[in-house]
Amino acid sequence: MIKISPSILSADYLTLATEIKKMEDLGIDMLHIDVMDGIFVPNISFGNPVIKSIKAHTKLPLDVHLMIDRPHRYIEDFAKYADILGFHYEAGSDNAETLKKIRELGCKSSITIKPKTPAEAVFDLLRFCDMVLVMSVEPGFGGQKFLPSALEKLTALKSEIEKRGLNIDLEVDGGVNGETAESAVKAGADILVAGSYLVGSPEMEERVKYLKSL
Ligand code: DX5
Ligand code: ZN
Repeated sequence: MIKISPSILSADYLTLATEIKKMEDLGIDMLHIDVMDGIFVPNISFGNPVIKSIKAHTKLPLDVHLMIDRPHRYIEDFAKYADILGFHYEAGSDNAETLKKIRELGCKSSITIKPKTPAEAVFDLLRFCDMVLVMSVEPGFGGQKFLPSALEKLTALKSEIEKRGLNIDLEVDGGVNGETAESAVKAGADILVAGSYLVGSPEMEERVKYLKSL
């Protein structure tokens, strides 16, 4: 069954606890937490103090998507509250070591690729990953248009994961909505991140149901 990981990036942070409760009641699977440093991506979001507060308010697993430069510097901090901890292939230096460290710290490990990074770039890292995140927009902002080039990458990764007999979830992030979600699932996505399509929408309930039905 498809899992839903709503991104809180476009939420109203002062009413976030209520919004999270509402999503919990709708049966979402985890929360997608976008951390941006203003260096790896042009935007700044929030850091660990906010994640710590979210963790105290929910039992949902936290799916932390680091968009930060040289992520290995902060893995120990974020591992305190994350359940799935992922960082960008393009931002790190020794990515295999960072993935191993994430697992040692008790989190599921994830590597993320930007739209211009080919799927093959992470094939040799798959054995250290519990999840791979394929970006379907340039990271940095919510509300962008889904890039169809993500679809062939999902398919390529899916077949490589199967070929290697690995147990890895494929997540897709950016521009996922009523028009794009189905093709992402058909291409191999197991987890759908959705920000502006779900969070704060008066149609959240129907939309969660729709995504879950895919
Ligand atoms: C973009 C973030 C996404 C974003 C998704 O850098 O990683 O998680 O919040 O937002 P939507 O679904 O609005 O594209
Ligand atoms: Zn994200």
